[in-house]
Amino acid sequence: MDYMDLIEIPGTQVDRLLVTMSPHRREHSLSVANVAEQLCARFGIEASRGRYAGLAHDVMKERGLAEQWSLAREGAREIGDPLISRTVREFELGEAFGGKMIHGPAAAGYLYIGCGLRDIGILEAVALHSSAFPDMKPLSKITYVADKLEPRRSYVGPADAEALATLELDELFFFAMEHVIGYLTEKGYRIAQSTLDLYNSLKVEKASK
Ligand SMILES: [Fe+2]
Ligand SMILES: [Fe+2]
Repeated sequence: MDYMDLIEIPGTQVDRLLVTMSPHRREHSLSVANVAEQLCARFGIEASRGRYAGLAHDVMKERGLAEQWSLAREGAREIGDPLISRTVREFELGEAFGGKMIHGPAAAGYLYIGCGLRDIGILEAVALHSSAFPDMKPLSKITYVADKLEPRRSYVGPADAEALATLELDELFFFAMEHVIGYLTEKGYRIAQSTLDLYNSLKVEKASK
């Protein structure tokens, strides 16, 4: 791994957190950053914003749950963004399962409070990366897709690489959701309610076209 990749967010503490992450998580984060950067370039978004979201999306994942919940709640209050607040509320409804996903809003809280990040698009992308929600903006969709389809994932193969290179963003977002739902179902894992709801409504929309 190139250490320079870890120090390219000047003026923040994300680089220091990345260094303290487990190697597995750090390499995943770098891989997500690479994919998000490429997708941003393809869809006309500043590539450095995708890279930032990718590097930072899991920075809280290995911290204690109490710290994650408290940063998520404080961050949502201070940021005042409706999508981030709604996400925290949804995760609070099923706290046990939400605990697996609260690291997204917690990372957004950390970036806002601890690093002074004010780019709402990046904050939303980081907060919403683990389960799909309606009204996600392009950078949020890109970060979700990059997180789910980065090449280090065990279930990712050539069809995913081709989708990443060719599909339009909404198609790609749907493709990633479908792939993840299929994989989690096969493994017997639970799927976030917001992902299922959104998937079902997009499926109906597609069928009526
Ligand atoms: Fe995550
Ligand atoms: Fe991740």
